[in-house]
Amino acid sequence: MAEKGILAFSGGLDTSVVVKYLQEEYNMDVITVTVDVGQGDDQKKIEAKAKKLGVIKHYNIDARKEFVEKFIFPSIKANALYQKKYCLATALARPLIAEKVLEIAKKEKVTSLAHGCSGKGNDQVRFDITLRSGSDLPIIAPIRDKNLDRVTELAFAKKHGIEIDSVAKRFSIDQNLWGRAIEGGVLEDPYSEPPDDAFIWVKTKNLPDKPTYIEIKFEKGIPVAVDGKSLEPIKLIEYVNKKAGDAGVGIIDHIEDRVVGIKSREVYETPGALCLIEAHSDLEKMVHTKHENKFKSIIDDEWAYLAYSGLWQDPLKQDLDAFIETSQKPVSGTVKLKLFKGSMRVVGRKSEYSLYSHKIATYGSESTFDQKMAKGFVELWGIQSTEANKLQKKRSTKI
Ligand code: ARG
Repeated sequence: MAEKGILAFSGGLDTSVVVKYLQEEYNMDVITVTVDVGQGDDQKKIEAKAKKLGVIKHYNIDARKEFVEKFIFPSIKANALYQKKYCLATALARPLIAEKVLEIAKKEKVTSLAHGCSGKGNDQVRFDITLRSGSDLPIIAPIRDKNLDRVTELAFAKKHGIEIDSVAKRFSIDQNLWGRAIEGGVLEDPYSEPPDDAFIWVKTKNLPDKPTYIEIKFEKGIPVAVDGKSLEPIKLIEYVNKKAGDAGVGIIDHIEDRVVGIKSREVYETPGALCLIEAHSDLEKMVHTKHENKFKSIIDDEWAYLAYSGLWQDPLKQDLDAFIETSQKPVSGTVKLKLFKGSMRVVGRKSEYSLYSHKIATYGSESTFDQKMAKGFVELWGIQSTEANKLQKKRSTKI
């Protein structure tokens, strides 16, 4: 009986090459699974492509709702930006895709699990760890195992009549509802500006001359309405992506530390994510105490680090989730963002749980804050610092 391998299939260069490798080099029957996480691809076309490559069976799974509710929403609650910049679009989708592959792997009684990740990226970490957490079957990753580079892959694709679209020839793209990652080609020179045509979600030219405002309403840390309209989760994210992208907001260009230690130049289009996280974190500052704010930013950083590093299922991440969930109880309210020619800033926020008190904060005559109380407070607050400084000065004059 032939060996049976299962593969998460995007229809792109890597996964197409892997189908052929599994068939030819590993003598396997191949089952492909395309998980829709909002990448916007035509599922019918991908299925046709898989069939043309000779797979024995292809599955299409619409996981968009699950992606938003179980992955994107928790990341908003965690204000998750890896290294303060990257919204984790790809990182969040991988464990979900791998889980779906596992479900079908069990049903189809496959003998191997395969993926199209290279040995240089983070995706191998995310796939391997999720697959390993749910199965002991061998994991085959031909791009990694055979040390394939893109030039070799393109030549292999050509030889096997695999069609590759022109964008894929210039860049390596991964996209879903939460963002679009663009890597490779000219972007590998970290000093050269990304060409305008690398971007499709965010407008870089002919931007509107008037500012765009966007009002986001949160309930317990989750965005529920935009511009006064209640929207279901997928629609809400699509709406913010479009509106912010049209205002030129959402491009990130930074140097990223990968799990395997490589530094890479990463370019993203993540308009919705940036707006929603900025609005959410601003609202938290209004409803949380200074102690909660300070501590939560440490938790948030760690959460983003674990999600990035493929440790989505780690017990520590679950513990952080529990803390974050409790912290979201008062995170309800509305935040107003102003978008203008690529810039984005919060210009207003309100909440029924607001800890902002006008009568305490005002410099006007209606203030109820007795300034005289501050004198003693400041003295005690700084007592150790001032003592230490005095001592240092005394010691250094002696030396
Ligand atoms: N650097 C990002 C991450 O590790 C994006 C990776 C994009 N992946 C890809 N296969 N092109 O999450």
